[in-house]
Amino acid sequence: MSEPAGAPVAPTLLVADDDPAVRQSLERMLTREGYAVVLAPDGPAALERLRAGGVDLVLSDLKMPGLTGLELLREVKAVSPDVDVILLTAFGTVEEAVKAMKDGAVDFLTKPFQRAQLIRIIRKALEHRELVQENRALQRRLDDLLREGHIIGASPAFRRMMTLVDQVANSSATVLIQGESGTGKELIARRIHDRSPRRQGPFVAVNCAALPEGLLESELFGYEKGAFTGAAGRKEGRFELADSGTLFLDEVADLSPVTQPKILRVLQEGEFERVGGTKTLRVDVRVVTATNQDLAGLVREKRFREDLYYRLNVITVTAPPLRERREDVAVLAQHFLRVYAAKNNRHLDGFTDEALACLEGYSWPGNVRELENVVERAVVLARGAAVEAGHLPDNVTQRAVVLEGPAPGERPAGDGPAAGERFFKIRIGASLAEIEQRVLEETLRLTGGNKTSAAKILGIDPKTVFRKLKQGEADDAAAERPPDG
Ligand SMILES: Nc1ncnc2c1ncn2[C@@H]1O[C@H](COP(=O)(O)OP(=O)(O)OP(=O)(O)O)[C@@H](O)[C@H]1O
Ligand SMILES: [Mg+2]
Repeated sequence: MSEPAGAPVAPTLLVADDDPAVRQSLERMLTREGYAVVLAPDGPAALERLRAGGVDLVLSDLKMPGLTGLELLREVKAVSPDVDVILLTAFGTVEEAVKAMKDGAVDFLTKPFQRAQLIRIIRKALEHRELVQENRALQRRLDDLLREGHIIGASPAFRRMMTLVDQVANSSATVLIQGESGTGKELIARRIHDRSPRRQGPFVAVNCAALPEGLLESELFGYEKGAFTGAAGRKEGRFELADSGTLFLDEVADLSPVTQPKILRVLQEGEFERVGGTKTLRVDVRVVTATNQDLAGLVREKRFREDLYYRLNVITVTAPPLRERREDVAVLAQHFLRVYAAKNNRHLDGFTDEALACLEGYSWPGNVRELENVVERAVVLARGAAVEAGHLPDNVTQRAVVLEGPAPGERPAGDGPAAGERFFKIRIGASLAEIEQRVLEETLRLTGGNKTSAAKILGIDPKTVFRKLKQGEADDAAAERPPDG
């Protein structure tokens, strides 16, 4: 049987048998089937050949001098776990062969065997190997997608933030990450570490809100044996564990007034003592913190130390809420769709226009985390190839008015793309000015930026379109300026 043109390289089979007649006959049969065959007269020779690489499957006699088939099997699994082994057994050693299956042999053949039987078993083993490899490749791709630090976004606000993040990563300055819940603060902290000169060192995260004061201190600074009841031995704290790396203090606004000065001291002197200890320890740690509270406000209310605030706040990165970067909703939704479709073994291509309009129109108080949860749920509920509005939770689809373009019959003549096919939702609770801006933006998107066509669709003067656009830009700029600036 000859290989079809353009077929992949023939699989290489390693045959180990001390009987020259068996080796010869196997070589003849397998070569005729199009396989590449290499021969080994005993176990040690087989292992040596295997280590040289390029072997896809091993066929080994069970009883050989030097190294039995079973021993060879174990060695193969240790050297190349991906390579399967088929054992060849003489009549009467079947029991041993069955045992070998438990040790990882894919199959066994009783000598003398028929050619057809041999070929079938080999094909099955090679298919199995291919499946395992495919599976592993898929798993790797999925891990890649889910890998911490994989941050998605394309909006100008997001890109501005990421530019800052990548700049500060290079320094060893203390960074305060501010932003509402679910905006990706932890991802940003990891990104800062992953892109910093300390990336080979550890990244250690501590949630300051998760533990009561005493426990948090022994968690951060460690403790000595007998420091308190139950301290049976000495324990290293997170500051020590993060030495030469990054310590991420999450929910830093929740640090108690007792713990705050201790953190300040590590930041200023790089020094601390374990709880119950007298020896002063030194560490080289970069501190990154995050909070969803208004830390400056807490300082004004004297609930957070001002000196610590300035130490933590050398550089502030602000993660914008999702509703202020709506352009990111579609990209993020698509990203999570891919991730959760793969996780749930679903084939989903995307969202219907209506579903996407709902997602883009919603206010996302829980930000990216909420979007992620909504998409995960939709993936589980969806039956067809796309996520529909019906698969989204009520709070995402309700409280919205559907604004549709003119129906197909009423389309302004000769005005490019089909006006009736674009629709989106507007959150009730938005101001009329906001709604007007959205309608303007969407209509312009529809006309590919052509203001005259947009004016025609909207039934207003082109000059009004220009004026309203200018007004929108001015409002945006005002919204981005700090209140006193
Ligand atoms: N830009 C992004 N790209 C991809 N995934 C994101 C992005 N932002 C956030 N996520 C995902 O959203 C979820 C919430 O993110 P994260 O835990 O970093 O938020 P957070 O700001 O720390 O929230 P909290 O204040 O509630 O702790 C995580 O699953 C994270 O992977
Ligand atoms: Mg967080």
